[in-house]
Amino acid sequence: MQRSDQKRMKITGMGVYVPEKILTNADLEKMVETSDEWIVSRTGVRERHIARPDQATSDLGVEAARAALTDAGLGIEAIDLILVATNTPDTIFPSTACWIQSGLKAGTIPAFDISAGCTGFIYGLIIAEGLIRSGTAGRVLLVAPEMLTKVTNWEDRATCVLFGDAAGAAVLEETSDGSGMLSHCWKADGNLADLLSMPAGGTRIPTTQKTVEEKLHYLQMKGNDVFKHAVKRMGEAALESLKKAGLKKEDVTWLIPHQANIRIIEATGERLHIPKEKVFVNIHKYGNVSVATIPLAIHELKQGGKLKKGDILLLDAFGAGFTWAAIAYRW
Ligand code: ACO
Repeated sequence: MQRSDQKRMKITGMGVYVPEKILTNADLEKMVETSDEWIVSRTGVRERHIARPDQATSDLGVEAARAALTDAGLGIEAIDLILVATNTPDTIFPSTACWIQSGLKAGTIPAFDISAGCTGFIYGLIIAEGLIRSGTAGRVLLVAPEMLTKVTNWEDRATCVLFGDAAGAAVLEETSDGSGMLSHCWKADGNLADLLSMPAGGTRIPTTQKTVEEKLHYLQMKGNDVFKHAVKRMGEAALESLKKAGLKKEDVTWLIPHQANIRIIEATGERLHIPKEKVFVNIHKYGNVSVATIPLAIHELKQGGKLKKGDILLLDAFGAGFTWAAIAYRW
């Protein structure tokens, strides 16, 4: 449904954290049989940032959350709920949200995780919007930290070239100034779960010596299938969100697609007939940082002075589950 009244959810602060260490394609050429030319032409990635061995996902999240609070001009005491979207939790339980809550010295503010593949940040915005508009929470801190490099098989050239580590965060609250989230579309298809997963370490295949030897604790993916579904579903979700908001493709200032692969990004733009210069791309600098790609993109546009009041953003993502979702948003 389009939000008919003027009370909407708005982003009032953005923050990111990117680890210092950079791994280039030249570095990867020394680790697996690959080439800079193959990686750039098939994925668009030139370099990615890698977390330190002593860092956990929540450490990245705490840094991004602090930056978002500073950007909003708020202290943690002003927050009513901490939501964390991630695929690489510190621990299966407790939630990464609780580790971050502790890191932020957040007292007894409620906190929980959302597991929705690379679509997690958009799912998080949709959940936060419902809670804010219903009056359940006044201000929500949505944190999207990811550390896929710790569940990557560094001997598998088909996956290890793709991913990086990063975190983004947003402070969310109600507004009646005409800006904010206009519409959403969110979907999932669990029948396709096997195409992109980390098979072991849960209750289906508990950890044993054998699962470790068979490398079942690493991300596994049927890249071609993921690719095809991503392009189709991201296109559908984007169109549905625009329609629900009563907008046309021409109204879009920035298409902000999940940065999974430059060919998925370009194919989504083409499918939607959105000109290249309106399609945000930064995958060359970070690789696929999963839940963190969309907040990193919004932050980069904001810092670069490329967002004006009234601009229409179309956020669009796809990920493990499969899950996919899009949001039309007026800046
Ligand atoms: N370097 C050199 N050659 C490679 C590499 C590499 N890093 N990786 C694979 N190859 C080889 C394969 O072995 C294969 O060789 P063969 O023909 O001799 O068997 C050949 O390249 C083609 O392999 P494909 O897997 O068909 O290559 P494709 O063009 O599909 O690209 C890729 C693979 C990049 C993974 C692509 O399928 C893709 O990006 N899929 C989308 C999935 C994705 O982005 N997932 C991210 C996580 S999910 C998400 O964020 C939505």
